[in-house]
Amino acid sequence: MSHSILVPHLADAMVRVTEKAAIAAEGLVGRGDEKAADAAAVDAMRQAFNAVAFQGRVVIGEGERDEAPMLYIGEEVGTGQGPEIDIALDPLEGTTLTAKAMANALAVLAIAPRGGLLYAPDTYMDKIAIGPGYAPGLIDLDATPAENIRALAGAAGREVSEMTACVLDRPRHADIIDSLRGAGARIHLISDGDVAGVINTTNPLTGIDMYVGRGGAPEGVLAAAALKCVGGQMQGRLHFRNDAERGRAARAGIEDLNRKYDLNELASGETVFCATGVTTGGLVSGVVRRAGEVETDTLVMSSADQTVRRIRSVFRTG
Ligand code: FBP
Repeated sequence: MSHSILVPHLADAMVRVTEKAAIAAEGLVGRGDEKAADAAAVDAMRQAFNAVAFQGRVVIGEGERDEAPMLYIGEEVGTGQGPEIDIALDPLEGTTLTAKAMANALAVLAIAPRGGLLYAPDTYMDKIAIGPGYAPGLIDLDATPAENIRALAGAAGREVSEMTACVLDRPRHADIIDSLRGAGARIHLISDGDVAGVINTTNPLTGIDMYVGRGGAPEGVLAAAALKCVGGQMQGRLHFRNDAERGRAARAGIEDLNRKYDLNELASGETVFCATGVTTGGLVSGVVRRAGEVETDTLVMSSADQTVRRIRSVFRTG
């Protein structure tokens, strides 16, 4: 019997929140306007949050208060009654994917009781992740990608040539790619969307064994909240390009700028993670509109009972 304060009521309410954000973003799929797509998702997500009976606080959001009009870090959402909950959100994970009508755009959020998610600033994070079933400490951000994939292959009882690592397709990852290819591994390059990249390591059907590379720190916390529900290992370390970014970290309460966080430090509390597809991808299907109705597909995971559910919802529109 679970003593969760998040499941089932809040989990169900959060599914409705990502559903609403995904439906709003879908209207902007393929229209070449990242900002409009993001704004539509943000607006819909905020409205949906405010219908939920909880004291929600955005800890990972659209940016700092002075740069984001809605769902900024520190914004209080919900009716103001009910449990005190921290929220990490990305109303549209994959703004470019949406603007270009490409696969894998998601509306995503994670919740935890107060203090259960790292207050990560909006900077980059170096990340490495693998799925469940391996001895703790098998991979390490401070080892080379080649060393990590070899260790993983050894533990899996497979050849390195049979292993696949997922990497964001960016020039900054040239060394990582060289290291992995030098070891003989395959590389699955993605143009965007490393929350899904990390989660895909937990599903053998994706063929992805490891995620490695530098992406958004907010996305790192979201991915950690998801892995916490299905098992797996992850490490992350913030990466700063300038003093302004270090300032963001200070304002987020980060004292040790070089700290290497593991999964349970990125997401220390009980978590619920929801992702609704905007466009169809490996995790979920995108929003489908038919005459008089719209259908969504959501992945909802809960760490309290280690469950993964798929929820297909049909909304009457006419
Ligand atoms: P957006 O939805 O904000 O565009 O983020 C998409 C994304 O690909 C993330 O999944 C990833 O963490 C980050 O951008 C990588 O950042 P960059 O595009 O600067 O390399």
